[in-house]
Amino acid sequence: MVEALAELPLGPVRYFRKTGSTNDEAASWATRGAPDLSLVVADEQTAGRGRMGRRWYTPPGAALAFSLVIRPSAKDLPLASESNAARYTALGALAVCQVLRSKLGLEAEIKWPNDVLLEGLKVAGVLAEAHWDGMQLSAVILGIGVNVSSGSVPPTGLLNYPATCLETILGISLPRLELLRFILSELLYWRERLWEAGFIQEWEERMALRGQRVELRSESINGHVTCRTGTVLGLDEKGGLRLQDDTGKVFSAAFGEILPQVRHSIILVQGD
Ligand code: BTN
Repeated sequence: MVEALAELPLGPVRYFRKTGSTNDEAASWATRGAPDLSLVVADEQTAGRGRMGRRWYTPPGAALAFSLVIRPSAKDLPLASESNAARYTALGALAVCQVLRSKLGLEAEIKWPNDVLLEGLKVAGVLAEAHWDGMQLSAVILGIGVNVSSGSVPPTGLLNYPATCLETILGISLPRLELLRFILSELLYWRERLWEAGFIQEWEERMALRGQRVELRSESINGHVTCRTGTVLGLDEKGGLRLQDDTGKVFSAAFGEILPQVRHSIILVQGD
């Protein structure tokens, strides 16, 4: 594992055959001083976590599950605020999306802010967790899960969005380690460009559901959930989602998740 990643300028690497969650491993390592770009990889997670308190399914031998400790650089610090945290989530999603496009020829898209979709089905998810030292960002734990073989697609009861895996779409088996290397290399590339306009531009170009009507669900820190509907326009300059509501008003959302909305039409059948 470590040899296969040796060409990349990473920090130390820890590999687990089985662990609870790589994000938890990386977070506790970060509190004990893990340097920038320390990497935790697991073959199996028994308590993998997704966004909004959901479970993430990682049975052995079927998926990619890893977490990177990102220490903000001097360049990042003045820019990294709570409202900008979505940028790190997008970093993970963009890296996966670009690799699926450039190395596997797949038309991958990003469902704002963190899901990678293939043919409208979820193939990867990103969980970026920010750690603060008072008002200052001390680390971001960037966790990425990719469904590689069919065993990684969760059973229906665990699905929050229809899912697929790379091998089902491609019809061939894939070397997971090589895929990991490509994704990490792409991550390192975009990490250097995180605050550039080109990053937002690339992310926006890869956005799924543009021009479509969606429901935006946002949960505040006290667990209060709000739902709004609107048509996806794109991104604002901070990476927030720009939507247009039914009255034509344009608004932005910094947090939340979106679900495509199916318009229910009522067909009137004329009787005699
Ligand atoms: C989501 O789609 O809700 C995010 C899923 C993130 C899953 C990855 S797998 C590696 C890392 N460890 C975890 O416990 N979660 C992330």
